[in-house]
Amino acid sequence: MFSRVAVRYDLLNRLLSLGQDQRWRRHLRQAVAQAPPGPILDLAAGTGDVALGFSGRRVVGADFCLDMLALARNKTPRRSHRIIWMAADVQALPFRAESFSAVTVAFGWRNFPDPAAAFFAVHRVLKWGGLLAILEFHPVEGKFFRWLHKAWQRLVIQPVGSWLSGDGEAYRYLPASSRSFLQVDELAALSQRAGFGLVQRRRLGLRVACLSVFRKGG
Ligand SMILES: C[S@@+](CC[C@H](N)C(=O)[O-])C[C@H]1O[C@@H](n2cnc3c(N)ncnc32)[C@H](O)[C@@H]1O
Repeated sequence: MFSRVAVRYDLLNRLLSLGQDQRWRRHLRQAVAQAPPGPILDLAAGTGDVALGFSGRRVVGADFCLDMLALARNKTPRRSHRIIWMAADVQALPFRAESFSAVTVAFGWRNFPDPAAAFFAVHRVLKWGGLLAILEFHPVEGKFFRWLHKAWQRLVIQPVGSWLSGDGEAYRYLPASSRSFLQVDELAALSQRAGFGLVQRRRLGLRVACLSVFRKGG
């Protein structure tokens, strides 16, 4: 599915978030600015919009979709030696234990087959005291905001997404997956079981998205 929508993915992100998605990704990057020194893993990196925005840090952008990674590589400045793109599935991360000082995941966690196991996988590759920042769409809280969001999904995201990507199934799945994903507190509870502590939470874009930041070791 991600291969099928890859080519129009960036354009649709800008349109369907009314230009807000890059601002949300900036918040995600800022959230790990205080991480201990060392490389950063941007997991479920997609077309690279999070990873490419880090400056002065070594970054690995990893994703299991090669078509997404190919687009990320095309967007990478030619002489950039600080960023590496890697094919990797969260279910079998090909990195040594404690390789990274921070891990970022934007709009990826709700697609992982086992969100609880993903916390253990990320915990293994993070250094002690390292930060995990997750930007994600959760079920929207509050009657009014839920209604507004549902209307936006039905009237804009599904028709415009289907039309521009040519993939109706994907743009039905993407909104539906945010409605059926974990609540923010449920995500935090899963993180605790793997050994993380919640350090920051911030709702973004009329409560549509949420940035959750966790530290390995609490
Ligand atoms: C909605 S896109 C988000 C891409 C990017 N992080 C962004 O900010 O636009 C979700 C990404 O998660 C990747 N993904 C889904 N399941 C994955 C898995 N099990 N392992 C690695 N990547 C995965 C998909 O290939 C896709 O690129």
